[in-house]
This record gives sequence, structure tokens and C-alpha cells, in this order.
Amino acid sequence: MERKKVTLPEIQRKKEMGEPLTMLTAYDVNIARAVDQAGIDMILVGDSYGMVVLGYDTTVPVTMDQMITAAQAVARGAKNPLLIGDLPFLAYQVNAEEAIRNAGRFIKEANMDAVKLEGGREIAPTVRAITNAGIAVMGHVGLTPQSVSKLGGWRTQGTTADAAHKLLDDALALQDAGAFAIVLEKVPERLAEFVTQRLQIPTIGIGAGAHCDGQVLVANDVLGLFDRFVPKFAKQYAKLYPLIVEAFSAYKREVDTRAFPAAEHSFGIKDVEWEAFMKTLEQERETRTTNSFDPTADNERIYG
Ligand code: KIV
Repeated sequence: MERKKVTLPEIQRKKEMGEPLTMLTAYDVNIARAVDQAGIDMILVGDSYGMVVLGYDTTVPVTMDQMITAAQAVARGAKNPLLIGDLPFLAYQVNAEEAIRNAGRFIKEANMDAVKLEGGREIAPTVRAITNAGIAVMGHVGLTPQSVSKLGGWRTQGTTADAAHKLLDDALALQDAGAFAIVLEKVPERLAEFVTQRLQIPTIGIGAGAHCDGQVLVANDVLGLFDRFVPKFAKQYAKLYPLIVEAFSAYKREVDTRAFPAAEHSFGIKDVEWEAFMKTLEQERETRTTNSFDPTADNERIYG
């Protein structure tokens, strides 16, 4: 069956029908193509790119230009999922004008369908401004990695009565401001379930238990693409890192022993062309030999 491009009404329909929503991150064309082929609803070009691809310790250093390059690659690979560009730190916090301009870059330059930003009630006017400009916005509350330092580390959020209340208020404020969905990151399962029931728009959980409307994971975690720390909430559906090291080692072994490249990796030239090539070399050699025995020429060089 031919798949259709996922749209905002389809995302909302799934919430209303109780059908789970799926989202994965992607940062390059091949993973984007694979995510699309797997039938995933949404691709987030997350600023986690800075950590899992660019090697930063946090998402804070990621720039708008880096995000645009990744988003462009993803858009070239994925045709059907709803594509969401993650606004990086300082792309939307300074003022609404800059926020609209940066959100607009994702739409104009990188073919994204929507943007995501982090924060609660304090960011709601910005969400309103971006949606008023005609750009769909996904919210993100709970653990918001761009504020990891202010939050005191990568800790679970909403674990006290006050914090749970604030998180609910934040989610409602984002909904009122026009967000079409909200990521809930690293919050207690009961709280995520409660917020999900209170909201009319879908919640997409990561480390937020089984009762959100949808789930999101970082593709690199799902694939086991690195050998470092894997968060408790991430499930590795494959362990590719050891396979990658094994493939690279096998390549090195084969080059070292001259087993690679073999005949099937090499290219030929017709005998007739090779013989003609040899003949041209021979003729050049003869011409050079003749010229170098020209005593007049030498004399001219020396005495001329
Ligand atoms: O940047 C990202 O990958 C995210 C997801 C973890 C939701 O924000």
C-alpha cells in the first residue's frame, strides 16, 4: 500500500483514536530514508545531533547552521514522515522576532514541516508568535537538555508535588499557545499519564512511561551506534557499534594482507587500448632520445 505524507490532522487523529504515535530522530539522509521505510510517523532532527554526531557533551553548543545542514540531509531522505526541526539553544530565547526567523529557516531552507522548542509557560508567547507566523510548533517540557545546567544535571523532572503542578501548567500553557504536540522527557510515568489525559494535543514521551500518546527515541540509541553511556530510558534494538568496529578491522586486515581489493573490485582496459598506450610511450621515449643527442641544441644552450 502506498504511504501518504503524515500531516498535523493525522497526528491529532491518532491522539483522538488512541493510536500510538512514533517518532525517531535522524540527522542524515540514510537514517532518514530507513526511518521513513519503517513507517515512523515523525522525524525529529533533534539538537541531540550535537551530542550523538558532533561529539559535544551537551546540546548547548549546537548552532542554527549545523541544524539546517542536518535537516536538509534528512529532508532529502524522508518523504512521508512529518519532519520537525529542533531549534537549538539561543535560536528562540532572545526575542520572538529571532525565533520566527530561525523557525522560518527550517521551513524555507530545509523543507521541515514544523519546529520544536524547549520550555514551558515562559516560552508560550514565543510559541504563539511562531504559530501566528504560520509555522507548526512542538513543545518540550520535563528534562529540557538546553537548560541542563540550570536544572542541576540530567535528573528526572516533576518529582515533587510543586514540580508536577508546574509541569502540568507548562504543558497547558503550550497547548493554549498553539503547540500541536508536546514532548515529555524524563518525568514520572504517573505524571506523564495524567498530563496526557488532561491535554487535547498529543504527548510524545521519552523516559515518560507507557501512557503517552506517542514515543520518541534517539535513532543512535536505538541502533546502538556508540559504546558510551546509554540512558536508562533508551532501548537498544540493535548493537551496531561492535559490528562497525569489526567491519573496519576486517577491512584493515584485508588491505594489510593485500586480500582487498580483489579482482571483482577492480577495473579492466582492453588489450588493444593497452598496446596502443604502450606504443605511445615508446614513441615518446624515442623522440626524447633523438633530441638529447642533438649537439647543436646543447651548444646553443651553453653558448647561446
Ligand atoms: O534533541 C532531541 O533528540 C530531543 C529528543 C530527545 C526529544 O529533543
